[in-house]
Amino acid sequence: MKSINFMTMKPCCRVLISRKISPFLGIPLPKSHQFFAPNSSAFQFNQSLHTAPKTRIVNLQSILKKNQQPFFAPSSTRGQSRIFSSSCLCGKLSHRGLYVIARVASVRNYSTSVETRVNDKNFERIYVQGGLNVKPLVVEKIDLDENIVSNEEPNVKVGEDSLDDKSSDGLSSVEAVKNVGREESEVDKEAWRLLENAVVSYCGSPVGTLAANDPNDKLPLNYDQVFIRDFVPSALAFLLKGDSEIVRNFLLHTLQLQSWEKTVDCYSPGQGLMPASFKVRTVPLDENKSEEVLDPDFGESAIGRVAPVDSGLWWIILLRAYGKITGDYALQERVDVQTGIKLILNLCLSDGFDMFPSLLVTDGSCMIDRRMGIHGHPLEIQALFYSALRCSREMLRVDDGSKNLIRAINNRLSALSFHIREYYWVDMKKINEIYRYKTEEYSTEATNKFNIYPEQIPHWLMDWIPEKGGYLIGNLQPAHMDFRFFTLGNLWSIVSSLGTPKQNEAILNLIEAKWDDLVGLMPLKICYPALESEEWRIITGSDPKNTPWSYHNGGSWPTLLWQFTLACMKMGRTDLAKKAVDLAETRLPADRWPEYYDTRYGKFVGKQARLYQTWTIAGYLTSKMLLENPEMASLLFWEEDYDLLEICVCALSKSGRKKCSRGAAKSQILV
Ligand code: GLC
Repeated sequence: MKSINFMTMKPCCRVLISRKISPFLGIPLPKSHQFFAPNSSAFQFNQSLHTAPKTRIVNLQSILKKNQQPFFAPSSTRGQSRIFSSSCLCGKLSHRGLYVIARVASVRNYSTSVETRVNDKNFERIYVQGGLNVKPLVVEKIDLDENIVSNEEPNVKVGEDSLDDKSSDGLSSVEAVKNVGREESEVDKEAWRLLENAVVSYCGSPVGTLAANDPNDKLPLNYDQVFIRDFVPSALAFLLKGDSEIVRNFLLHTLQLQSWEKTVDCYSPGQGLMPASFKVRTVPLDENKSEEVLDPDFGESAIGRVAPVDSGLWWIILLRAYGKITGDYALQERVDVQTGIKLILNLCLSDGFDMFPSLLVTDGSCMIDRRMGIHGHPLEIQALFYSALRCSREMLRVDDGSKNLIRAINNRLSALSFHIREYYWVDMKKINEIYRYKTEEYSTEATNKFNIYPEQIPHWLMDWIPEKGGYLIGNLQPAHMDFRFFTLGNLWSIVSSLGTPKQNEAILNLIEAKWDDLVGLMPLKICYPALESEEWRIITGSDPKNTPWSYHNGGSWPTLLWQFTLACMKMGRTDLAKKAVDLAETRLPADRWPEYYDTRYGKFVGKQARLYQTWTIAGYLTSKMLLENPEMASLLFWEEDYDLLEICVCALSKSGRKKCSRGAAKSQILV
C-alpha cells in the first residue's frame, strides 16, 4: 500500500459540534456549530468560529474505538449520537481523537420475520420514539495508533433468529490474504500499485481513494476527491486482499459527514444524506501549523447540483460487506453506526406523494450524475434501495425502538420487488402484450395500469429483443416506460435478487445474446442504446459530454466489470465473466485505465475520459479476486427471500381487489 503520509505537527484536540434540526428525534434544535475544548470540563461554545451557512468543512480525527474510558458526558445531548468531529493538527504523531457514543442496549435480535401489515403509517411515530430512547451520549478519547480493527467480542448477544450465522461466514483478514494465493500477473501488479497510489490519508490514516489519479491532469475538477460510489470497488479490493483498515476508516468518517449541515442556497436537504464525495484539505493555521479537514460535497458544488441519492445506499451495502468479509460485526453494532443506518432509511422510507413503492428521485442522482432523462423511478436506484433494505434488515438491532422500522423495511421490500418484477420486466412476450395494449382504462383492474401507449415501444426494441432472455426497463412513470437497458440496475437486480430467479437468468441470457451491443470491445455499456438526434437534444438538453455513444449516453464503463462478475458468479455463468475480464485485461493497461470508452462498440478511449480512473482499476482487481475466491463472492450477493413473497402487499381482504399481489408474487418466481 502507498506509504501513508504521516504529518508532523501537534495534534489539536478541538472538537467541532454540529447541531441540527432533528426531525428524527422529534426535538428541533437550532442549527449551529459549536466548538468545545475537550480538555475543559464543559463545552465552550464559540459561535463566532462557525456561524455562516458555508461552514461545512468538517474536521474529523477519530477512528473511533469502542469501550474506551469516557471522559466527558454532556447531559443535554440526548439522541445526538454522531454529531461531532474533531481535528487533527499535524505534528509529531500522537493522535488523539474523540468520539461520541451512546450507550448500547445489550441484547440484539436480528429480524427475519416478515409481517403482513401494509402501509404502516405508525412507522414514523415509533421511529421517533426510538430516537428518543437513545441514551445520553458519552464522549470518549482514543489513541489512533491502537489497532483499530476491534477484536473484541461484540457486547451484544446475537438473537437466535439471526438471519445469518455471523460467526461462520466472515473470513478474517489473514484468511482473506491467504486466499489470494496465486502468482500476480504484471497487469495485476500494476493495478495494485496504481490503486495504492490513489489512497487518500487523513491525519495519517487511509480513508479512501481518489476518483482519478492522473499526474498529467491539470484540471482534475472533483476527480481528486473520494467519491462514495467510486470507493466501493476499491473497498472490496482492499477487503478481499485482507486490508480492512481503510474501509473501516472510510465507513466511520463518512458516517460523521452524514450529520453535517448542508445547504444549497439556504435550503437543507434531509438529515441522513450521505455526500457524493469528500476531499481532505489542509488548512493553514497560526505559527506555521496546519490542520487537515474533511470537506464533503452533498451536491452543493457538484455540476448540476445533483442529489447523491445512491451514496447512502452504497454506504449501507459496503457496511454489510465489511462485516461479512472481515467478521468484524462490532462495527455495525455500534450505536452511532446503527443510527446512521436509520437516518438513511428514514430519508428513503418517509411518506411523500409517491404512488409506487419505488424511490422517486431527480435526474442524475446515481452513477449517471448528469441529465439523462432518468428522473422518476430509475432502475439503478431501485436495485440499490432494495439491497440496502436487505442489508439493513440483517444489520439492525431489534428492539422496541426499531421494530416498526423493520416492519416497514419488510413491507417495502415485498412491495418493491413485486412492483419491479411485475412492471419493469420485458421480454418478447411482454413486449407483444404491450404492443396490443388497450389504453385509457379507468379501473383498479386495468391491465394497462400505467396507460402506456403501444406507440411508445421503440423501433430498435422490436428488432433487438431476443427470443431468449429479457431485462428490466430503465424507468416507469405514468404513461411512460423508458425501454433503455441500464446495465448497473440490471446487474444489481441480479446480485440483490430484486429480480426473480428466472428473470435474473434471463438478464444474463440477454447480455450473452447481445454481447456485441452490451459488451463489445470493452465491458460494459452503461446503457443501451444511446439517445440520438432530437431525443438527445430534448432529453439531455444538448449535453456535449453525453453525445451519442459517449460517456453516460451509451459509453462503455470498465468499472461495471465487478458487478457483472458478481452477477455471473451468482448465476453460475463464470464463463461470461471470464470472457469480459480477459477483454479488459488486455486493453485497460495499454489505454492507461480510462474512465470510459466511446462509440457503439467501445472502440475508442472516451472523449473526455480521465486516465488512471480508480474505479476502473479497482473494478478490474475486484473482478479477478472474486473469480478466484467464489466463497468470498457468495458473501456479497443475496438469494431469493421466500418469506417476502408471503406478504400480501395489496391488502386484498381490505380493498376487495381481485388480484392479490401475494398470489402474483408467488407466481412471479415460476415465470
Ligand atoms: C462521473 C461519474 C460518476 C462518478 C464520478 C467520479 O461524474 O458519472 O458516477 O462517481 O465521475 O468518478
